[in-house]
Amino acid sequence: MTIKRVGVVGFGLMGSGIAQVCAQSGYDTVVREVAQPLLEKGFGRVDSSLARIVKGGKMTEDDAKAARGRMRGTTNLEDLKDCDLIIEAVVEQMDAKKEVFGTLDRVCPETTIFASNTSSLTIVEMAATTKRADRFAGLHFFNPAPIMPLVEIVRALTTSDATIATLREFVTSLGKTGVVCKDSPGFIVNRLMVPSLLGAIRALEQGVATVEEIDTAVKLGLRHPMGPFELIDYTGLDINLHVANVFFDEFKDPAVAPPALLKRMVLAGRLGQKVGRGFYEYDEKGQKKPPSTPTR
Ligand code: 3HC
Repeated sequence: MTIKRVGVVGFGLMGSGIAQVCAQSGYDTVVREVAQPLLEKGFGRVDSSLARIVKGGKMTEDDAKAARGRMRGTTNLEDLKDCDLIIEAVVEQMDAKKEVFGTLDRVCPETTIFASNTSSLTIVEMAATTKRADRFAGLHFFNPAPIMPLVEIVRALTTSDATIATLREFVTSLGKTGVVCKDSPGFIVNRLMVPSLLGAIRALEQGVATVEEIDTAVKLGLRHPMGPFELIDYTGLDINLHVANVFFDEFKDPAVAPPALLKRMVLAGRLGQKVGRGFYEYDEKGQKKPPSTPTR
């Protein structure tokens, strides 16, 4: 089937990046948030990301305006009923996702394909609550979605070959590379990445080195663009804790158990760059400041 109109549910960090990428690639894109101020915040994020791309010379101002013109916001899920593909990017809570898909399943025609951008929740559990488990898959984008070239296409036990073929074509049309993987915890990237980030927190807990020293070592020793603490702050401590909990629940392996420091920091509300404080502190422009408290 051919995708023309895309719906994105959730206009946070990931949802806004995903919606922007779809609109940039020529798709009419409808985004849904629960309240108008959240829609405005999401569009603010899209505008500054588009401005960055224009400033870098990778898009003309006219093309950026055209992309923005293809995006429409709504607070009503029913406004997504004409979409050929709907990508969900709401909070990482199974009940919230099931509720969204339950409503969409009632209002959308049976041809609409549903996809979740979950980092770690089981796709088949969401699919099974709809009447279209064969037209249900995972589409896992990476932050920042406008820049990162990979999308994991997650095949649940119930996903049909035709759905995977359509999603492969769709991901390619976004200018991204799609990799198909099984519906298993963390898919490919988080399965490999999260244990190493948890290892960095444990190294910090054990006094191996400071936050900055560990980040410097990984950036210069492995040529990673960000150190593990920069990356945890960037993706969100709450998201990393959530993934660690899912992994531990599934694998019962102490190597993936959430470190005590991560739990305590989430409890303290130090969720990373999005709130101005995680392992580092950030100014109002999101620029990193050196740690003001000992983090060894
Ligand atoms: N929108 C548009 N453009 C952006 C952008 C955004 N949100 N973020 C960065 N850019 C552009 C910049 O404008 C710049 O463009 P230019 O080359 O034309 O000037 C270019 O990207 C590079 O950015 P910067 O110069 O500001 O900084 P860096 O070179 O350090 O790159 C980065 C920033 C691309 C974020 C890089 O640090 C990076 O690749 N980090 C790793 C990110 C990563 O690992 N993401 C995956 C996280 S895991 C995940 O998302 C899964 C989830 O389930 C947890």
